[in-house]
Amino acid sequence: MAMELGLNGRVAVISGGSKGIGKAIARGLAAEGVDVILLARGQEQLDQAADQIRKEHRVKVLPVSTDITKADSVKAAAARAKAEFGTVHIVVNNAGGPIRRMDRQILWPDSDWMDDLNLKIVGALRVTQAFLPLMPSDGTGRIINISGTASTVVWAPALTHALNNAAMNQATGYLAHDLAAQQITVNTVIPGLVGTEGREVWADNLAKQQNVTKAEFLSSFCKRMGILAGRWADMSEVADTVTFLASDRARYFNGSKVVLDGGLSINPNPRPA
Ligand SMILES: NC(=O)c1ccc[n+]([C@@H]2O[C@H](COP(=O)([O-])OP(=O)(O)OC[C@H]3O[C@@H](n4cnc5c(N)ncnc54)[C@H](OP(=O)(O)O)[C@@H]3O)[C@@H](O)[C@H]2O)c1
Repeated sequence: MAMELGLNGRVAVISGGSKGIGKAIARGLAAEGVDVILLARGQEQLDQAADQIRKEHRVKVLPVSTDITKADSVKAAAARAKAEFGTVHIVVNNAGGPIRRMDRQILWPDSDWMDDLNLKIVGALRVTQAFLPLMPSDGTGRIINISGTASTVVWAPALTHALNNAAMNQATGYLAHDLAAQQITVNTVIPGLVGTEGREVWADNLAKQQNVTKAEFLSSFCKRMGILAGRWADMSEVADTVTFLASDRARYFNGSKVVLDGGLSINPNPRPA
């Protein structure tokens, strides 16, 4: 029997939906007929992403300039979503920031630690809280968090990413328990290294610094990191996973942490040649 996902006509909100993994998730859901609300701060990039998705798929797209570090901004976005759609079935907590500096994070000032935590984990709680009243209690409600490998393995120098992602993994179980009576499931995807626009620039720069090609840099980096697949994930592979978790087919997933890292986290040793 075909895998009917049952997503057509549903509504999703994606934080950080203007680029990278978030935009890929929005495109993946839209391909299944899901109307999408995109949250990010930068209006221009939001509008570009919205135009792209409208051209690709016959769904409604609502880009809302939102700063998830600010409760009022997130509440205003939820009010826009309520006015436009009434119901939001799927909440994807994806927004996060890059590593702000490569120095030792234990030496950072308080304000840098707090800013990072305020963005990703507390931001995810703000978005969840604001959109919860719009979510149905009929078994179609889904909260999907985008965590990261730094939550389970030590990835120097990513201390605040580790704290954010570990907290996200744990909040997933807490919220699954808390929201069970509303039949809302809560799951987390734990990606490893993902080939976003930002990562492409990162790889280009490091390859230039090392005087090798980008392909050579990536091949040796993946080997050093122990990524058994020998490559980073395509953004669409994260989007496919989120789309499945959002679907009726995944209704028995709850409180799950879905590792999507090409074997990185099971492998303490560099990939064999
Ligand atoms: N790329 C990877 O290799 C990788 C691996 C594992 C996990 N992850 C996780 O996946 C998620 C997405 O990563 P990515 O690499 O796709 O990131 P990205 O390309 O840097 O995109 C981040 C998105 O979040 C938005 N954003 C940032 N600060 C925001 C704020 N205060 N309020 C609202 N939106 C905000 C950005 O838009 P504005 O700047 O315009 O607001 C953008 O849309 C992150 O949580 C990251 O930790 C990434």
